[in-house]
Amino acid sequence: MSARDVLEREPGSQADDRLTGRQVADLMARAFGLNDVDQEHLGGELDQNVKISARDGRCFLLKISSSDVDLDSLRWQNALLANLGANAPGVRIPEIVPGLDGQEIVALADLGAGRSARLFVWIDGCALGEVEYHPPALLQELGSMAGTIVGALATFRAPARQTRHEWDLSRAREVIADGIDAVEDPGLRADVGTIMGWYDDVADLLDELPVQVVHHDLNDANVLVDFDKGAPRICGVIDAGDALHTIRVAEIAVCAGYAMLRKADPLLAAATVISAFDALVPLTDEELTVVFPLAAARLCMNATTWIRRTRDSGAPYGKERMRDTAPALRQIAQLVPEVAEAAIRAACGRSRRSSARSWVASSGLGVATSIAQGRSVVEVDLSPESDLFDELGWSDAEALRQRISLFLGDRDRTVGVIAHLAPSLLRSARRAVGTDEPATVQLGLGLLMPPGGVVILPSDGVVEQLPSGNRPAVLRHGEQGAPYWTSWWGVAGVPAIGSAVHAGSVLGTVAASDRENGLDGLVQVVGTESRTLAERGLPRFVAPSEQTAWGMLTFAPLALLGLPPASPVHRRTVDEVFAARHRHIGRSQRTYYQRPMNLVRGRGVWLYDEASFAYLDSLNNVTHVGHADERVTAAARRQMMKLNTNSRFVYDGIGRYAERIAATLPPPLDVVFLVCTGSEANDLALRIARQVTGRQDVVVIDGAYHGNTGAVTGISPNRYKGPGGAGAPATTHEVPIPDRYRGRFGYDDPDAGSKYAAEARAVINGLAAAGKPPAAFIAESLMGTAGNIVLPSGYLSGVFAAARSVGALRISDEVQVGVGRMGDAFWGFELAGVVPDIVTMGKPLGNGHPLAALVTTREIADAFDTGMKYFNTFGGNPVSCAIGEAVLDIVEHDELQARARAVGAYFHEQLNELRARQPMIGDVRAHGLYLGVELVRDSAAKEPAALEAMLVTELMKDRGVLVFPNGVHDNVLKIKPPMIFGREHVDLYVETLDVVLSLPELSRRQSKGLLHD
Ligand SMILES: Cc1ncc(COP(=O)(O)O)c(C=O)c1O
Repeated sequence: MSARDVLEREPGSQADDRLTGRQVADLMARAFGLNDVDQEHLGGELDQNVKISARDGRCFLLKISSSDVDLDSLRWQNALLANLGANAPGVRIPEIVPGLDGQEIVALADLGAGRSARLFVWIDGCALGEVEYHPPALLQELGSMAGTIVGALATFRAPARQTRHEWDLSRAREVIADGIDAVEDPGLRADVGTIMGWYDDVADLLDELPVQVVHHDLNDANVLVDFDKGAPRICGVIDAGDALHTIRVAEIAVCAGYAMLRKADPLLAAATVISAFDALVPLTDEELTVVFPLAAARLCMNATTWIRRTRDSGAPYGKERMRDTAPALRQIAQLVPEVAEAAIRAACGRSRRSSARSWVASSGLGVATSIAQGRSVVEVDLSPESDLFDELGWSDAEALRQRISLFLGDRDRTVGVIAHLAPSLLRSARRAVGTDEPATVQLGLGLLMPPGGVVILPSDGVVEQLPSGNRPAVLRHGEQGAPYWTSWWGVAGVPAIGSAVHAGSVLGTVAASDRENGLDGLVQVVGTESRTLAERGLPRFVAPSEQTAWGMLTFAPLALLGLPPASPVHRRTVDEVFAARHRHIGRSQRTYYQRPMNLVRGRGVWLYDEASFAYLDSLNNVTHVGHADERVTAAARRQMMKLNTNSRFVYDGIGRYAERIAATLPPPLDVVFLVCTGSEANDLALRIARQVTGRQDVVVIDGAYHGNTGAVTGISPNRYKGPGGAGAPATTHEVPIPDRYRGRFGYDDPDAGSKYAAEARAVINGLAAAGKPPAAFIAESLMGTAGNIVLPSGYLSGVFAAARSVGALRISDEVQVGVGRMGDAFWGFELAGVVPDIVTMGKPLGNGHPLAALVTTREIADAFDTGMKYFNTFGGNPVSCAIGEAVLDIVEHDELQARARAVGAYFHEQLNELRARQPMIGDVRAHGLYLGVELVRDSAAKEPAALEAMLVTELMKDRGVLVFPNGVHDNVLKIKPPMIFGREHVDLYVETLDVVLSLPELSRRQSKGLLHD
């Protein structure tokens, strides 16, 4: 087993003949010319392994073999490693370091006959088993790595003499037989028994499988991982000590077996690894059948072997080793091998024809025997994309019932059909902590029928199971043809077990309401050819990742309705959506997340993807009053149905909206320019400032972002100093960021605000003294993209005074912070008691609709009117204005500003409490409902934890909470939820962040320093 994993060490196994530190030091000096090395003694099943650190910084692994390992075998292993090093691109393999005499194997004659040593270059990385969370991309890499190794070894010669060893998968039966008596836990014995039953079922196939040399020990202690921008990736493989000439599929079975440890869904993990292997080394039909039983059997071997050894050696080690294996075997033993095989075939894109499906489809039932009984059939789409939910809260069962009734029309004349394998929004849920997938996909057909009406069985069948609780009625059909089974939920009064029900006769009556779905009169029916599945009971809903597998094992008996088979609806997967985006959207337009979700709907504070997974939106910038607020959509719709046109026509909406905006601002700010984006507003602000003052220079705060046009990119240090940036234009001048966490003047300095302002004043006065006084000073009143920097008191007023003293216009960029978010004020600058010359605003104004504005004084606006026209086609169009008014109404009516104050304060308090428990949280800063959580690797040095922040956001997303890092160092979790966020959402957020920050993987990665920037 592994050289690296201390857990794999069998205490006492090499007790007496281990080399001492002094002997190792002598050996290193004598045989390798390395003096004065540091040693770290590691574990190892047969070998003694020592990490050697040389004075010049190089590291090595010294492997000392025991006397019963023959030299031929070591030579063969060395050749194998060299072959992999040369032919397995992208996989780092230990490189052998010859001794001073040029030999790869150093004989240790003086330490006991037959003993020898080998030295390898050390590979940095942590074991795969030490990484808590294995994202799909990592599992795919694991499978590809195994495929690459098998490819490289395809023609490698078998050893002259093959030693039998205990990990040979093709000998699993013998190995288990040797060890099973030592297993005392009856549950574990039973699980091993179940799994070995699957192994026995496929054992006959093993002799026919392709054979070759394989590494045969790609377990999670021998595969090494490092991190690329926060994402774990496979970086190497060690230990060829168990290499063997055996069945080729053993390579991926071992790998997939260990990949199932510590997974919420072990089958999904195995299928992901195996499919990536299959893409490089196409598996034969038989290999696809055996691979899962072999993978599971390998874990059984692991369990029994270690437990036996523990019993024999008396060390309490086996228990520790079983910490992950026994629970995984518990989960795996619950699986149905048929489902597992189907899942693996589905993942590999190999499906099997279902004969029952075609048999049923061609049975040509007439109207008389159709369950629809002449009623018209109407498709009911309950997927998250369905229009049915556009104006409906789906958790309101009564409203839903009414909506569906309305949609179906006369219930006595219609049957509503919900498609097989469709995700249902009614089942929507967050992925659980541990990333368990909610089962959102319906198996079989849902038939919405009049409650109490009769259900006609359209095809002869025999009742095999009666409904009870959530168990369906099960009927067996097709005695003459291939047998198949149908499971029925929502049917009452089914005849007794063993009764034959003939086509066209009554199976039972439609049960009144379906507790699981909240739907009235829902009958769900699904077919399968598998007796085992029918007997064990089919689930009503399955996880989206298992959808294809279940599609292979079950069918929708559409023919029972006298309907032709439906062509499956193809919903684009997230990968397809992402690929389409990449094909046609410029790459510089980055998305949130490394593996983003495909969003199809939003409602309130929640977003939903195509699989009906729900995500708490604590990140959204723009959806100020919540997703899909019906007052906003109604206003938009009403206005679109009446008039939309460009803003040079005269219509009332633009004036009305301008009046509303002006009313929120202090005098003399009362002239409004309506535009479409925050960037446009700032671009126009620059134009106005430069034209009105006749100057060109602009003063900005370091770290700020003000938009994407050419001009405003030039006043955005966040961009021009960031990746790909070309530096500040000559006319842009930065003042230091007033960051009390990292800057010169900290939280402990009560005068920090005026001290930072004095620094800014010096820059402004310096420009004036140099003969180029600035046209403007631009600032956000809480710096968003720069990392949620809350301006210290006295700062903004001080800098505004300095700007005014040299005749510069003061621009307040409220694009992020305005419209009540600060809680204590409607606009952020009001907190500082200042009145700017120009205010720009955007994001929240339109609740996601592109609506932005600039407001200034009459005097400045008139000075800008030199005769040149300013025209903005879409800015302030009738629809935008109607939306803008609706948003202002809602903020006012629902008292969202006060809510932001209260919920924001609670959020701040909860995050501060979390900070006391989680050392990675360096700082929490907030005003109202705009918060930032700064992550650091160590609280004293404050080293920014940017890669960890990225990982945290991925892990939070996988648990259904959306957040993203920003800031100068990309290490500040930005919290800017819709203003309707409640305390319950705060609790969910904080709880999830706590769980994620507690994952050992995050702290381990810090301490191991494995991060690559
Ligand atoms: C402070 C600030 N100003 C301006 C903008 C630009 O707004 P938009 O993206 O609507 O052009 C942004 C966008 O993030 C911003 O954060």
